[in-house]
Amino acid sequence: MPGEWNSSQQGLVLITGASGGFGLHFALQLEAQGYVLILHGRDKTRLQMTLDALEFPERHQLMLGDLSSRKTLESLIDALVQMPIVGLVNNAGFGVWGGFEQRESVPQLDVLRTDLLAPVALAHALLPKLKKNHGFIINVSSLAGESPLPYMATYAAAKAGLTFWSEAIRAELLGSVRVVTLAPGPSPTGFRQISGAPQGKGSLFRIPAAQVVQSALRVLKGGGGYCVPGFRHHLIWMMQKIVPRSVSLAMMAYYLRR
Ligand SMILES: NC(=O)c1ccc[n+]([C@@H]2O[C@H](COP(=O)([O-])OP(=O)(O)OC[C@H]3O[C@@H](n4cnc5c(N)ncnc54)[C@H](OP(=O)(O)O)[C@@H]3O)[C@@H](O)[C@H]2O)c1
Repeated sequence: MPGEWNSSQQGLVLITGASGGFGLHFALQLEAQGYVLILHGRDKTRLQMTLDALEFPERHQLMLGDLSSRKTLESLIDALVQMPIVGLVNNAGFGVWGGFEQRESVPQLDVLRTDLLAPVALAHALLPKLKKNHGFIINVSSLAGESPLPYMATYAAAKAGLTFWSEAIRAELLGSVRVVTLAPGPSPTGFRQISGAPQGKGSLFRIPAAQVVQSALRVLKGGGGYCVPGFRHHLIWMMQKIVPRSVSLAMMAYYLRR
């Protein structure tokens, strides 16, 4: 269990994928709001770096586990349901770039397990605690969930599922658990390198990870909602709404092929 409790502390929050990127900034900003954190990830060294970046590292704890493994997910859940959790940040995720047929099946299925199935399983298991504690869920989805993405087909499918599920439970839980569906566009984290996607014009639309997280926490403060952070990501979102699917499919296929 985390270290000593004091009256300025707001409760216990689980952040998945806290070993870098958005997860690091969720940790920094939620700690600043007084929360005590469970920092989850697979890479212990990088998780320790997140912990060391916090102001009161001794208050928080690390939790290791691969969310694409059903067995691991089940044992994480067994431990988590014993804890007085008030917030769940479903942030861990990755994508696999490449032709659907050319890329192996296992990593593509792992994208679905990590980015979609694990958030659903964690939220379902923790909901009784979250309701009791008038808590919150932040689901880190993506603008990739707003339109099909050739050469990152499985990632977009996972994020579309996550967005729809998150928005539906947001309506179901109104008044009991605040839900934020965060749908960012490109941001300079480890994501692009891990997915293997090429650098390109998309980087013109990047906004810093700290700003993405700040937007999500602002929406949380307002009671929850769907959050597209920043002006640049709003531009992408608006284009997704007005450009016909046939055109956007052809454009994205051209852009992401290579
Ligand atoms: N950056 C962007 O452009 C962007 C845009 C839209 C949405 N997103 C979403 O933002 C979220 C955070 O990604 P990021 O951009 O911050 O990228 P990142 O720097 O690569 O961080 C991803 C995090 O997810 C964790 N993770 C990945 N696979 C995992 C698995 N199987 N089990 C457990 N943990 C796993 C990683 O943990 P370990 O390293 O410890 O394994 C890492 O902490 C993801 O859901 C991503 O889809 C990112």
